Amino acid sequence: MDKLAAHNPESNMGDYDKARSTFRWEDVAKNFEFSVTGKVNAAYEAVDRHVEELGDKIALRFLDDEKEVTYTFRELSVASNRFANLLLELGIKQGDRVFIFMPRSIELYVAFFGILKIAAIPVPLFEAFMRAGLLDRMSDCDPVAVVTHNSLKDRIPRDEVPSLKTLIVADGAEGDEISFDENRTRKGTFEPVWLGLDDPLLIHYTSGSTGKPKGVLHAQRAIIGHYQTGKWILDLKKDDVYWCTADPGWVTGTSYGIFAPLLNGVGTTIIRGRFTAKRWYRTIERAGVTVWYTAPTALRLLMGKGEELISEFDLSSLRLILSVGEPLNPEVIHWALKAYKQPIHDTWWMTETGMIMISNYPSMPIKPGSMGKPFPGVEAAIIDDEGVELGVNEVGNLALKKGWPSMMKSIWKRDEKYREYFRHDPWFTSGDAAYVDEDGYFHFHGRVDDVINTAGERVGPFEVESRLVEHPLVVEAAVIGKPDPVRGEIIKAFVVVKEGVDESEELKSELIEFVKKGLAAHAAPREIEFIDTLPKTRSGKIMRRVLKARELGLDLGDLSGAGEGV
Ligand code: PRX
Repeated sequence: MDKLAAHNPESNMGDYDKARSTFRWEDVAKNFEFSVTGKVNAAYEAVDRHVEELGDKIALRFLDDEKEVTYTFRELSVASNRFANLLLELGIKQGDRVFIFMPRSIELYVAFFGILKIAAIPVPLFEAFMRAGLLDRMSDCDPVAVVTHNSLKDRIPRDEVPSLKTLIVADGAEGDEISFDENRTRKGTFEPVWLGLDDPLLIHYTSGSTGKPKGVLHAQRAIIGHYQTGKWILDLKKDDVYWCTADPGWVTGTSYGIFAPLLNGVGTTIIRGRFTAKRWYRTIERAGVTVWYTAPTALRLLMGKGEELISEFDLSSLRLILSVGEPLNPEVIHWALKAYKQPIHDTWWMTETGMIMISNYPSMPIKPGSMGKPFPGVEAAIIDDEGVELGVNEVGNLALKKGWPSMMKSIWKRDEKYREYFRHDPWFTSGDAAYVDEDGYFHFHGRVDDVINTAGERVGPFEVESRLVEHPLVVEAAVIGKPDPVRGEIIKAFVVVKEGVDESEELKSELIEFVKKGLAAHAAPREIEFIDTLPKTRSGKIMRRVLKARELGLDLGDLSGAGEGV
């Protein structure tokens, strides 16, 4: 396997082995004020504490096609103080869950920090979710309030979530809704509610292969990991212009779109508008982006647009490119070397890990096709199904030794789900299969469960199936991820319809729309196949892996538990 020379041996981290041999998380904690005061609040560490030294520095730069809005650290501090005062006045208190369901905007970030300052728990949700997606998540953690936007508020299932008392609406509050702008008349000072390191930070919902989405609760201590990975993996320096393309409704958008840069005193770039190659290149040029954290699907789409387009833009500010969320194919790295004159650094982690766990560092040679090596302070291994460590080049379960600071605190109201991750204590089992090579580089092999990864977004098949069977003509459905050269995987649904129903192309389109409108566009199948019966185990569980093997023309494997339809 080829190895590329290290991109920047002079990076913040310097030599990987050396950094690893002396690393202690306790030393990282010394960079925070709480190490002196004993008082923790993530919003204070990310925003307020920079005001004295970096008050006039831009913390948020928001760009859309027409305008640019910037907020300095001081402005963000004051605006989030005002918002915190408003929240308290509305009776929202420590520990309450507050959803943020907003398009990308300065307001979203102001709300996020305001919620953190009163020690309520923000639950950011991607704006593409529709009513059923919202209802599943809201009825799990009973929010008291939602901060939203006029264009999205109609999707909120207000009547079906009894805990939900308050809607704070930007750009058009009506009736008993509170206008987002009300915060502007509140006091601009606020003493954050002080917490301990193990107190809650935020919740992100994510999907497994069975059951409803899980609320992954993170603790305040997560910021220790965000800070240090921001420094050593994103290699952030004071003058960087940083852009993370992920939405704050996903974990990358908070850990690396918000915390890692701001904790390091570096501003973050935010754009509105769908992905287009031109819009993205224009953003790099307009903002002068130096460090860019993005995803393989986007890079593959950009590769598809070719190098000529690049010559229309000045991308010379870029000094570091990173990617996360799906396997990064070597072709993309080789193309980037030509097109952007630098490689892409793959990073691996999950909602549950809260921070990057395995990565290609700027100072370390890249092996294209490998995710890299564990972060200093993180121990990763490949274990078998009994929890025994495997040797070099043996494929098994990718596991991480528990105890890193950003590790999730719990799964909301579902202790047994949380414990499942630690069934091989002290190892956290990721659900990914991987192997480690003779040089200690980790290589992704696939998921061991049925979780689908489409364009870097994690989709639980159960959620899509549940929506499909709500359609009056559908009896049963099973959903799999089907390999796709651009999106990694697309969602394919196998559907059993009621007797006598015409299995038409129109019905396929209708079902796709039904999922889009009810659940979310990113979770809608791109392909549908009508089928007479679904393969099931003798106890009646759908065997998605049989459908997948059939689809891919693979060996069906061990079918000893199989029953009907196989
Ligand atoms: O399967 C792995 C894949 O994304 C999963 C985590 O998804 P999520 O919790 O939504 O978090 C995404 C971003 C943090 C993992 O279990 N994944 C993530 N990064 C990579 C990856 N697969 C291959 N290569 C990666 N670099």
